[in-house]
Amino acid sequence: MKLDRPDILGWLKTEDPAPLFLMADAVRRKFVGNAVHLRGLIEISNHCVRSCAYCGLRAENTLRRYRLSTEEFFSCVRRIDSLGFGTVVIQAGEDYGITTEWMVSIIKRIKAETPLAVTLSLGERPYEDLAAWREAGADRYLLRFETSDAVLYRKIHPSLPSRTSDRLEILRRLKSLGYEVGSGVMVGIPGQDYRSLAEDILTFRSLDLDMIGVGPFLPHPDTPLGRGELHSSIPEDQQVPNSEIMVLKVIALSRLACPWANIPSTTALATLNPQNGYELGLTRGANVVMPNFTPGRYRSLYAIYPNKICLSEPDTGGSALNRIRSIGRTVGKGTGGRRTPDGTLSECGERR
Ligand code: 5AD
Repeated sequence: MKLDRPDILGWLKTEDPAPLFLMADAVRRKFVGNAVHLRGLIEISNHCVRSCAYCGLRAENTLRRYRLSTEEFFSCVRRIDSLGFGTVVIQAGEDYGITTEWMVSIIKRIKAETPLAVTLSLGERPYEDLAAWREAGADRYLLRFETSDAVLYRKIHPSLPSRTSDRLEILRRLKSLGYEVGSGVMVGIPGQDYRSLAEDILTFRSLDLDMIGVGPFLPHPDTPLGRGELHSSIPEDQQVPNSEIMVLKVIALSRLACPWANIPSTTALATLNPQNGYELGLTRGANVVMPNFTPGRYRSLYAIYPNKICLSEPDTGGSALNRIRSIGRTVGKGTGGRRTPDGTLSECGERR
């Protein structure tokens, strides 16, 4: 499909996105069908060594930090499996208390005891860790590049003293290790203009992403960006709004740019519109939902932004299923891995 920079810019700025939404929904149906894949999310730790200017878990913040025990973690895994989900997503801050070996043993045990695909979202870990976890059986890795504007990225995402942060390079390495690779951006970061957001979407395509996650930037009061401390150098009329409609446009354009990708309707979108944000994402290009299985007593501590809502257990099965059925879609069977252009599933294969 022809979708070049001017087309993307035009859609991002249009006041009539209805034709874009119809196209995205048709492309979604044609390439990935009516199934919505459920991924069970476990936020295994909220420790983080990074100082991202947007995130409530940044190292400087004093909040109660937790790391699940192996047994707490596996009781979540068993619930996800027993509900018939195909994938567990293991997410944390960049936490080196999650050792290479501990994660290897967790991945091996999930693979030995369940048919679940394993997705990791554990930050910018060294290559050796990513390789060891792939070797242990991990199938997918999520790492958003947040923005393709290098100057803005440096401002909001300071490197560790020991190494320069280069998420695009890590994404390429993940591909070469054989992971299915997911990335994405926040929409409406202060200082993000329309040109850079159009570039983000072109970057999704050039990276040939298997998964794309996008959501609105939501200001967290205990962060430099949330407090308005970082001053933007772009004209006001070029600033991308962090609005629901803008996120839906980016989801739709991501579907057109990457027709085969798995695209979630994200929690951040549903936080902006708790009533039907999930459904709107799913009818404008998305085909994945990620209900939260973090144990209740830790859930409020994983506050990357305020008022994060959750499609949550114990209503997980019910509420996610009802939302999916209410828009005439079906629940995906199997692990819901990327479908390749010849229609086959990639290697982690179908469940049952
Ligand atoms: N608003 C919206 N999204 C955020 N994330 C982190 N902080 C925020 C925020 N304040 C997103 C980032 C990160 C993902 C795990 O959560 O895109 O990659």
